[in-house]
Amino acid sequence: VLAACGDDATETTPGPSPVELGAERYATYCALCHGEEAEGYAADQASAIGNQDFLAIADDDFLRSAIARGRPGTVMSAWGSERGGPLAAEDVDAIVAFLRSRQTAASIDVDAISVPPGEPMRGEAVWSVYCSDCHGATGEGADYLSVANPEFLAAASDGYLLHVIENGRTGTDMLPFDTELTSQNIADVVALIRSWQMPVDPDPCGTPVRDFASALLHPEGDAPDFPAGRFVPVADVFAAYDSGARMLLFDARAPCDYVEEHIAGAVSVPFYEVASYVEQIPQGETIVTYCACPHAEAEAAADALEAAGFADVKVLDEGLPLWIEEGHPLTSGTAPGSPP
Ligand code: HEC
Ligand code: HEC
Repeated sequence: VLAACGDDATETTPGPSPVELGAERYATYCALCHGEEAEGYAADQASAIGNQDFLAIADDDFLRSAIARGRPGTVMSAWGSERGGPLAAEDVDAIVAFLRSRQTAASIDVDAISVPPGEPMRGEAVWSVYCSDCHGATGEGADYLSVANPEFLAAASDGYLLHVIENGRTGTDMLPFDTELTSQNIADVVALIRSWQMPVDPDPCGTPVRDFASALLHPEGDAPDFPAGRFVPVADVFAAYDSGARMLLFDARAPCDYVEEHIAGAVSVPFYEVASYVEQIPQGETIVTYCACPHAEAEAAADALEAAGFADVKVLDEGLPLWIEEGHPLTSGTAPGSPP
């Protein structure tokens, strides 16, 4: 028996267990979209990750990669520190342990399911009738999550896809298709989804530049004349931005999303990191926060700014998706860029 190392006296209070740590991390970073009980849909498309049918087929690697690498191009960010996110590997493992602690259904080894060969062309006919309304014409996501995302398809085997399609997800709008569709139909749809798979992007994200001394847009301009209340429509924010109003624009998402694409002139202020920048943020200015989900993270950032004493904080109402749809200025990379 090895003797303990002698610093026992200092270890009077044990640290949190992985499940406790995971619950804490989950509440900070995930609940605003996936719901406090992981029931899903606190924000659009954020699936029910505490669902028993999901937990039964998603193994630890599947969960770890979804959390750390995210689903690029969707509002599911990369949360792992290797992609600029706030979570170290042990935090990711702790969240997985927390989700597992809620699992009551037996795990199913979906990778062992043998999937009959299918024909993507035939799958298209099935897809457009039964699936595209909810998941998009080519699986890019619509009312519900994407099934063509490169990170998803890198993690999900054909057996995973087949199992979901046959059995659905109890308690969600994903119904079982095992009676409506033949096993050949299902094999064809699996082949179609697989045909959408693209390689994952190996590039880790850069670190956003945060220079609050030059963050104010149009320092010579007047403060914007926004309507009362917290939410300001994209049309009003754009009108102020475009006509040279003086304001701060904060992107509340995780850094990888910012580097991918952000409003020209916006500074990266992730909702969970607001406290670290409070000292540097200019006082007395109008601050507009935004995210893409369409405003859960922007609201969390606004709450934190108000708690730190900033009085004029607004949230972009319809979020980045409408800003993009309207063709308003965007830029990519680690630097804020300049407004028009
Ligand atoms: C009425 C809307 C709706 C329709 C129609 C629908 N789905 Fe879904 N699907 C969902 C929802 C909702 C989920 C996620 C449920 C959750 O976990 O929150 C889902 C999940 C999935 C998943 C798992 C994705 C993942 O990340 O784990 C696959 C695969 C899938 N659907 C394929 C299909 C296919 C194939 C069809 C057509 C045969 C189809 N779906 C039809 C709503 C739908
Ligand atoms: C801004 C909202 C948002 C936040 C915050 C968020 N997610 Fe997500 N998450 C989503 C959306 C939306 C999707 C579906 C993406 C897609 O369309 O593929 C998703 C997908 C997932 C999936 C894959 C589910 C499946 O069926 O394939 C997991 C697992 C997941 N999130 C876990 C987490 C965890 C853990 C956190 C906290 C560290 C988190 N998410 C934070 C929005 C969010």
